[in-house]
Amino acid sequence: MVRVLVIHGPNLNLLGVREPSIYGDQDLEQINGLIEKEARELGIEVKTIQSNHEGQIVEAIHEAIGWAQAIIINPAGYTHTSVVIFDALEATRLPAIEVHLSNIHAREEFRTKSVTARACVGQISGFGARSYLLALRAAKAIAERSSQ
Ligand code: DQA
Repeated sequence: MVRVLVIHGPNLNLLGVREPSIYGDQDLEQINGLIEKEARELGIEVKTIQSNHEGQIVEAIHEAIGWAQAIIINPAGYTHTSVVIFDALEATRLPAIEVHLSNIHAREEFRTKSVTARACVGQISGFGARSYLLALRAAKAIAERSSQ
C-alpha cells in the first residue's frame, strides 16, 4: 500500500471560519475526512497533520523518511517565505506535491511566488478541498512509478 503524509501549514486549523469566500466553508476536520475517504478508495494509507510552527513542519517532513513514499504539503503562508521547508523537502528526497486551496497565481503578487514548489514534483492550486484529492492521485501514480 502506498503511504502518504499530508501536511497542513499555519492557519489552516481555522478553515471554515477563515475567509470562507477564498478558502471555502469546510473545516479542517471535514477536509481530512474527504482526504481519508479518497485515500481508502485509492488504496493509500494516509496520515494528516497540521501545524502553525515552521520547525514542527520541518520535523514532520524528516519523520516521513522511512514511512511515507510521498508527501502532500500545503505550506500555507510559509509557501512564500520558507527556505527551511524547501531544504527539508529537498533533504528527504521524497516526492512532494504542493497543494493550495486557492489559486495563488490569481491573488496578491506576494502569493504568486512559491519558495517551496521548487522542491516539489508539482503544484495543484485553486481547486479548494479537491486540490488535496487530486494530489492523492498524483502521489499514488508517482509512488507506484518510483517503486517499479
Ligand atoms: C494557501 C494560500 C497561501 O497564500 C495562504 O497563505 C494560505 C493558504 C491556500 O491553500 O490557498 O494560508 O496555501
